[in-house]
Amino acid sequence: MSLLPIHVLGSPILREETTVVTEVTDEMRTLIDDMYETMYAASGIGLAAPQVGRSERIAVVDVEGQKFALINPEIVERDGKERAEEACLSIPEIYGHVERAKRVVVQAIDRDGKPYEIEARGLLARCFQHEIDHLHGRLFIDYLSYLKRRGAMNEWEELKAQYPGNIRHLIPGQHETDADHPEAEM
Ligand code: NI
Repeated sequence: MSLLPIHVLGSPILREETTVVTEVTDEMRTLIDDMYETMYAASGIGLAAPQVGRSERIAVVDVEGQKFALINPEIVERDGKERAEEACLSIPEIYGHVERAKRVVVQAIDRDGKPYEIEARGLLARCFQHEIDHLHGRLFIDYLSYLKRRGAMNEWEELKAQYPGNIRHLIPGQHETDADHPEAEM
């Protein structure tokens, strides 16, 4: 397995629509394994293919041990509303409150090519919504108010210098979740 470089805000692939997967190949299974490894190295709870520079409709999630590979995921039911803070591995050190559905039902294909359906609430539901957004070129900052987003972008202007070419290289063991922001990055 290998750690993949993470594309950060400014990389065009984060804004592109992904391509539906028609067959789960060994190469995709390797990608999924590498995405898990990269997500864990970054102390994240979710990671979508565009974040590692890939255009397949694939994401991985691990919320408190609930682990899912999501291929071609779709939200088929959504209920309720809940506001909570989010952070994204592709926009490090930027945080914002986002309103999401409280409960979702997601249909997807797993690593073995088998279809499944999962009902989720709370943080898992939020993480699914955040990752599925990534697969359609959407980022959590898109939901912030004009003023909040402008503030976040001003902060990012200074932070982005750390990521030449809009690439974030992870160093194993060096990425801790920020104690001031209890929700993990995704
Ligand atoms: Ni994200």
